[in-house]
Amino acid sequence: MTISSGPKTAFVLGGTGNMGREIVEHLALAGTTVVFSGRSQARGEALALRTGATFVPGDVTDRASADACLQQALGLLNRIDLFVTAIGMVFVSPIGQTSEAIIREVIEVNLTSVFRCSRWMFDHFKRNGGGVMVHVVSDAALRSIHHIPMYTTAKAGLLVMSELMSAEGASHSIRVNAICPGATVPGVQATVAGFEHHAEDASTWGAAPSGRHGHPTDVAKSVLWLASEDAAHVSGAVLRVDGAASAAMRGGTRA
Ligand SMILES: NC(=O)c1ccc[n+]([C@@H]2O[C@H](COP(=O)([O-])OP(=O)(O)OC[C@H]3O[C@@H](n4cnc5c(N)ncnc54)[C@H](OP(=O)(O)O)[C@@H]3O)[C@@H](O)[C@H]2O)c1
Repeated sequence: MTISSGPKTAFVLGGTGNMGREIVEHLALAGTTVVFSGRSQARGEALALRTGATFVPGDVTDRASADACLQQALGLLNRIDLFVTAIGMVFVSPIGQTSEAIIREVIEVNLTSVFRCSRWMFDHFKRNGGGVMVHVVSDAALRSIHHIPMYTTAKAGLLVMSELMSAEGASHSIRVNAICPGATVPGVQATVAGFEHHAEDASTWGAAPSGRHGHPTDVAKSVLWLASEDAAHVSGAVLRVDGAASAAMRGGTRA
C-alpha cells in the first residue's frame, strides 16, 4: 500500500470565504503551496499570516482584476496543479421581484466569472499536461430552492459546466469535479431584496437528515480527497456533501 500524495500547488478562488478559508488551511497543512484570492484585504492578509499561503486580492466580476489574479497566481506558483472555485453570493428574491440588476450580479459572480477563470485554468492545465479542478457548487443545483431562483439557476449552470469540462479534459489528464454542499454554518454572504449584505444564517434552517448542519471542514476534506491520487479515476462527479438533504428532497422528505 502506498500513501497517496496531494497536489504540490493550488490556487483557491474565494479563499477569503468560510469554506475557502478552511480549504486553504487544509491544503497548507497537507504541504501544498497555496495562492488564494478574494476581495477582503483584512481576511486575506490574516489567513496568509496564519497559513503561509499567499493572498492575491481581486474582484472576479472585473475581467482585468480576475486576469491579474490568475497571472499573479501562475507567476508565484510557476505551475498550478489544483484549482478550486469557492466563490459565490446569494440574493434572496422571488422570481417576480428578480430585477435586471439581480439577474446580472448573481449570474456574474456565481457562473460567468467562474466559467471565465476556469476556461483560463483549463488552457493552463492543457499546456502543462494535466491538472485537477474542483468547483464548490451547491445542493441548490440539485433541488431547486425556490426563494433564491437566480442563485439556483447559476449553480445549476455551474454543475453543467463542471461536467462539460470533465468530458473535454479527460483526454488531457484534466480531472474536473463538483462538490454540492447543503446548508453549511456559517452561511454564504446573502442579500435579501431591500436589505444590507449579511451572512445567510443557515443555522435557522432545518438540519440535514444526518441530524446536523454542514461545516466548512466537511467541504475542505472532500476537496483534499478529490485532489489526491486516491481519486485518480474520479472525474465528472457530483459529490453531495449535505447529510442526504438533496436525496431526501428527491425522495419527498423535505430536509
Ligand atoms: N454556506 C452555505 O450554506 C453554502 C451551501 C451550499 C453552497 N455554498 C457555496 O459554497 C461556496 C463558498 O461559500 P461560503 O459559505 O464560504 O460563503 P462566503 O463565506 O460568503 O464566501 C464567499 C466567497 O466568495 C468571494 N466573492 C464573492 N463575490 C466575489 C467577487 N465579486 N470577486 C471575488 N470574490 C468574491 C468572497 O470574497 P470576499 O468575502 O473577500 O469578498 C468569499 O471569498 C460558494 O460558492 C457558495 O455558493 C455555500
